[in-house]
Amino acid sequence: MKRKAGNALRCAIVFGLATWMGTALAQQAPAAHPWSDAKLSPDKRADLLLAQLTQDEKFHLIRSYYAGPRKPEDKPVPPGYIGSAGYIPALDRVGIPAIQESDAGLGVATSDRMRPGDYATPLPAGPVTAASWDPKIAFRGGAMIGGEAHAKGFNVLLAGGINLMREPRNGRNFEYAGEDPLLAGTIVGEAIRGIESQHVVSTIKHYALNDQETGRTTISAQIGEQAMRESDLLAFELAIERGKPGSVMCSYNKINGDWACENDYLLNQVLKRDWKYPGFVMSDWGGVHSAAKAVNAGLDQESAGEIFDKEIYFDAPLKTALAKGEVKQARIDDMVKRILRSFFAAGVFEHPAKKAPIDEKANLAVARETLEAGAVLLRNENGLLPLDATKLESIAVIGAHADKGVLAGGGSSLVSAKGGNAVPGLKPTDWPGPIMYHPYAPLKALQAMAPKANVQFASGDDVAAAAALAAKSKVAVVFVQKWAGEAFDAPDLSLPDGQDALVAAVAKANPHTIVVLENGSPVAMPWLNQVGAVLEVWYPGGDAGTGIANLLSGKVNPSGRLPISWPRDVAQLPRPDLPAAAGGTPPDTVDYAIEGANVGYRWYQMKGIQPLFPFGYGLSYTTFEHGPLKVDAKGDKVTATVTVANTGKRAGADVAQVYVQVPGAKAKRLAGFAKVFLKPGEKREVSIPLERKLLADFDVAKRGWVVRGGEYVVVEGSSSETVGAPINVTLSASTL
Ligand code: BGC
Repeated sequence: MKRKAGNALRCAIVFGLATWMGTALAQQAPAAHPWSDAKLSPDKRADLLLAQLTQDEKFHLIRSYYAGPRKPEDKPVPPGYIGSAGYIPALDRVGIPAIQESDAGLGVATSDRMRPGDYATPLPAGPVTAASWDPKIAFRGGAMIGGEAHAKGFNVLLAGGINLMREPRNGRNFEYAGEDPLLAGTIVGEAIRGIESQHVVSTIKHYALNDQETGRTTISAQIGEQAMRESDLLAFELAIERGKPGSVMCSYNKINGDWACENDYLLNQVLKRDWKYPGFVMSDWGGVHSAAKAVNAGLDQESAGEIFDKEIYFDAPLKTALAKGEVKQARIDDMVKRILRSFFAAGVFEHPAKKAPIDEKANLAVARETLEAGAVLLRNENGLLPLDATKLESIAVIGAHADKGVLAGGGSSLVSAKGGNAVPGLKPTDWPGPIMYHPYAPLKALQAMAPKANVQFASGDDVAAAAALAAKSKVAVVFVQKWAGEAFDAPDLSLPDGQDALVAAVAKANPHTIVVLENGSPVAMPWLNQVGAVLEVWYPGGDAGTGIANLLSGKVNPSGRLPISWPRDVAQLPRPDLPAAAGGTPPDTVDYAIEGANVGYRWYQMKGIQPLFPFGYGLSYTTFEHGPLKVDAKGDKVTATVTVANTGKRAGADVAQVYVQVPGAKAKRLAGFAKVFLKPGEKREVSIPLERKLLADFDVAKRGWVVRGGEYVVVEGSSSETVGAPINVTLSASTL
């Protein structure tokens, strides 16, 4: 397992770090300051404040300290930090509050390890939120985390992970939102909007193409300009448009040979020039390699350089570069202005983050409802699910510590939930561990779901005992797990610890076997045809036991749809090998030009390969009919209209997915979608505006999106592979 430089510090003993002084220092700007007039634009206010700052104060704002565990020999952090990922002390003279940064997208992270006893609500993994295909769910989750962060004194969240799933073995897929730019851009954009609604700056990351962890600090992602603009960068573009995050985190890797945090193309040309991004770029922790080059390429803030970078580039080296004329003062001012602007735009000055009570019950409900909206029912033979819980006589619950809790992904995004680690001591116990089970045990919830049933647990360590328990029970619910985390990838798609044999043995003993998957990315399921049902919950987060019981009993009808394609095996992938994932020296480059912009389902379509489950797929306890499809092209606007009907006996939701094949393309692209909630027998016509950038190509020479014009094929359906009759529309050429 490879670790980034300095990460050993994350697991060092905490040396009295829990100084809870940040909130006290987060003072509001005195009213006398002209920039405290909230009626002025964030830009104007930033200009006014910038004009008052000394050069020392400007340099103070362009680098943060690491506020996590330190070694005794490291210099101490200046006082006032809460203790988390990053910190910049307050500038009291001008009323700038302390900048307190915390990870991340699945909840306020690592709190227990740095601030013992301070817990947070864990959301389910990112793919769950994406699988909801519901912008409202994403917004609510973001607002929940943002609210908790604010109530703990944090004003920056390092949340907004959106790296596309090019690599199903990527250890951080659980922090992201799947493989499609439109779905990921919409969902992550909404989550960011939710965070910022709580007066907390959100940080979209990791910009860009940090799509695997193996060799993440050295490897160069090789890809053509058009391909990256239409895939990974499009996801960022859409999410930034929608969510307006105050900051962007550049990633560890190189892109076409240049480090992301000193990549002029990515930062200056694309982000700041083409997208007119007004916020600031912060580095990932250890992502800076230069002063002048990085600053001139568009990096605005160095994160935790005193611990993670070779030197603190944005201090003496930058001052020297400035003196030599390699960097202009105007650029230093621009860096500071961008930082201040984002704080004004989020309302950080007017609504300072400070310790406040948290409604834990309401927040747990947000987490549980996210799971209920995004769990994906992958298989359900002969109506095995939903279980008739009131009548069930016996249930065998097997495996994955389901008697104690549910698994979480590892690394900087890890949240400590109230109650702590339900299964402490599993290796690795140090970073990116500990392996954490959140204490929301499915066993207890299943017992509550089926009060008359004899519910018994088998750990699964003894396969014969588990099979024997399954044989004497009416149904068997087998939980399987695969831990993933930051800084490492899975070498393959297999389930660890002999769990395939466990599932096969249980399924053999009881045909009513239901598998619940707790994983960060797709796994191989050699036993798939032997089991009755499979429910994908990824890392299911807060109050997951209840959520899982609600889904299995039909109290909630599953409505999640895969935000990824589920490969049968690695041979189907653009890169069947992931060199050095199991150890050894990673190569210098990874070739993303192989699939280019055709990530995920587009790759499968281009190659004519059938994945195990297609993108957009998911079952329900009711049935739906879609159609007919109408497509209306008026000027620049293309709208698809379709009727979705619930033809079954239960209320439920389906997702109308509209795919477009642009002239000359082999694969279709998701261009619009809508989640439709319907009572039994109800039908509704939905109008879905198609995202124009998905109808267009990125024209490198023109540096913009161009609708080529001609015949476009539009289809609608319930997955990328299950679509209705195509409609051809003629679009005229245009530039966006
Ligand atoms: C991760 C970031 C994280 C940062 C601060 C890095 O290792 O890549 O996602 O925000 O640490 O904890």
